[in-house]
Amino acid sequence: MTILDGKKVSNDIKDEIAVEVKKMKAKGEKVPHLAAIIVGNDGASLTYVGSKVKACERVGFESTLVQMSNTTSEVELLDKIKELNENPEIDGFIVQLPLPPQINEQKVLLAVNPDKDVDGFHPANFGKMALDMSTFIPATPFGILELLDRYGVETKGKHTVVIGRSHIVGRPMSILMGRKGFPGNSTVTLTHSHTKNITQITSQADIIISALGVPNFLKAEMIKDDAVIVDVGITRVTDETKPRGYKIVGDVDFANVSKKASYITPVPGGVGPMTIAMLLKNTLLARERHNQ
Ligand code: GUN
Repeated sequence: MTILDGKKVSNDIKDEIAVEVKKMKAKGEKVPHLAAIIVGNDGASLTYVGSKVKACERVGFESTLVQMSNTTSEVELLDKIKELNENPEIDGFIVQLPLPPQINEQKVLLAVNPDKDVDGFHPANFGKMALDMSTFIPATPFGILELLDRYGVETKGKHTVVIGRSHIVGRPMSILMGRKGFPGNSTVTLTHSHTKNITQITSQADIIISALGVPNFLKAEMIKDDAVIVDVGITRVTDETKPRGYKIVGDVDFANVSKKASYITPVPGGVGPMTIAMLLKNTLLARERHNQ
């Protein structure tokens, strides 16, 4: 069994990006600038956005964090998005999800300039992704592809089962794994809350990508020998022995599933750090496109 070490690979990618930034600086070019908008004070979201900003510092990007209160109106947020769309200093930005209930997420995603949409959530970019056109690929699926690529995990002709159809992970992942190319060329099954007898499906999978958010959902009995397991779950579970009072738990019963799997991502240290690295990669891409 091989651990798909997202922490290590993400550090490699950040080092590679830092080299590119140094070259840009040496040529007197503007360095990439990522902005993140966060609305409200959800603890997990604040942590993720904080990590994204910190990662910018590490690779030499400029970053801007826009914090807005939980009572922010939709109009106020749309105004802020317009400001970032029009600000030539900003190469790319994200609006951290989820948003408070008074704000319509679809309206927000549509308001982001697709050329600055480094999350790849705008329908124009999502559509391009589905049509194999050059675009920003959503960071978590992009990170999973990169991890499979760097470990040389074969995906061609394999049966990939995706668990969960979220717009951020499951849905794009199911499209990407079926695309022509590497990683891709898989036969994909997308499972969700209405899927019947999921064990019958997962037990036929060569590759399982679980993005459900249910701790320890995927058990050893549900997979075949030598399956490749990618765990996208990041649920906070109370644990008084931890300094923060909680631990992060994945969708996969790692202790038992890892004994049967050929490759497996740990939680934490698997997919999570890859998401941040690929957001940086998309921001670098946005900067390079603006230079052209
Ligand atoms: N919430 C959970 N994952 C993501 C992500 O990749 N981007 C944004 N904007 N919000 C998220």
